[in-house]
Amino acid sequence: MDKRKMRDGVYWLGAIDWKRRLFDSLIPLPDGTSYNAYLVEGTEKVALLDTVDPSMAATLLAQLAGISKIDYLISHHAEQDHSGCLGPVLEKYPEAKVVSTPRAKDMLIDLLHLPEDAFLTVVDGERLPLGGKTLHFVYTPWVHWPETMVTYLEEDRILFSCDFFGSHIATSDLYVGDEGRVAEAAKRYFAEIMAPFRPQIEKNLDKLAAYDIGIIAPSHGQVYDRPSFIVDLYREWVSGPPKNLVAIPYVSMHGSTEKMVEHLAAALVDSGVRVELFDLPVTDTGKLAMALLDAGTLVVGVCTVLGGPHPLAAYAAFLANALRPKARFLSIVGSYSWGGRAVETLTGMIPNLKVEILEPVLCKGLPREADLQALDELAATIAQKHREQELD
Ligand code: FEO
Repeated sequence: MDKRKMRDGVYWLGAIDWKRRLFDSLIPLPDGTSYNAYLVEGTEKVALLDTVDPSMAATLLAQLAGISKIDYLISHHAEQDHSGCLGPVLEKYPEAKVVSTPRAKDMLIDLLHLPEDAFLTVVDGERLPLGGKTLHFVYTPWVHWPETMVTYLEEDRILFSCDFFGSHIATSDLYVGDEGRVAEAAKRYFAEIMAPFRPQIEKNLDKLAAYDIGIIAPSHGQVYDRPSFIVDLYREWVSGPPKNLVAIPYVSMHGSTEKMVEHLAAALVDSGVRVELFDLPVTDTGKLAMALLDAGTLVVGVCTVLGGPHPLAAYAAFLANALRPKARFLSIVGSYSWGGRAVETLTGMIPNLKVEILEPVLCKGLPREADLQALDELAATIAQKHREQELD
């Protein structure tokens, strides 16, 4: 696919990765992804904004075949899915300067071994005139690494946001058409890489509110020609309250823990609380991350194995701790055969969660009537807590 014109002198370049199904060896990508780069041609200078994943270098280099010179390589973010082709592009255009934040420069030298003299660092708010096109750099740290910045193209009111506002979708449509589909993909993306940095992202949203933005052009997924659509979603995700929802990731070896989880879930629904269950051995981590972004309460269902929590429950606890969900309450339910320290181990793994721990419900073997009654009481407690906090 050749480059695509967005405005006079402004082009989308990049690669659509229809096949990719996993990112960071962690994040499922059910719809693939794209690596978007952009070309801005002024009357005097030419800039390429970001590159593509190294696996798709040939696609980008083919799109650049007719471009005789590039003066600036804008690197918004050092992660290799955007920076990984800076080396090959520099080889093609050895006179080009890599424009980045000072912190990104250090990281790019570490990650890619780029030569130090290839860089031109910029300060927050600096402008770079290209001749009739002006790049205005805005530091936006922690979307989602510490070195990140975005570029506002003043004459065309386009914000090139790199990972900020991105979504993992492979599609031949340049602009967002189906907002529902993009909202789901962008939420999955936010939940998995942005969620831990909500306070910093809120500050960046406030900072960008001062700019008159007509288009947001991220480096993954489609371009937003209605920016308020994604900005409003980000506002909700960073600062909206948790919902009247219980996320229940669980793992069960012989069915006892699953029986408890299903009993708890039914009791919660009967009490007016929504639930989402995640059978960890087959769960889509992206779905779980999205539920963790919304849930008012997290309940981990765990069986014991080898004297401790099943490793998949530990994985869920570790993931939740890393994602710093909005949940205000947490509990643990599950079954053991002869003993184990599942509760102590799991609660020790979530220091980042500012939650009230609700009394766990553990039973030996198959749950008995008293165990099921304890689950009913836990459901009633959660429903009451959610009502008190007015979670919708
Ligand atoms: Fe799309 Fe953080 O890289």
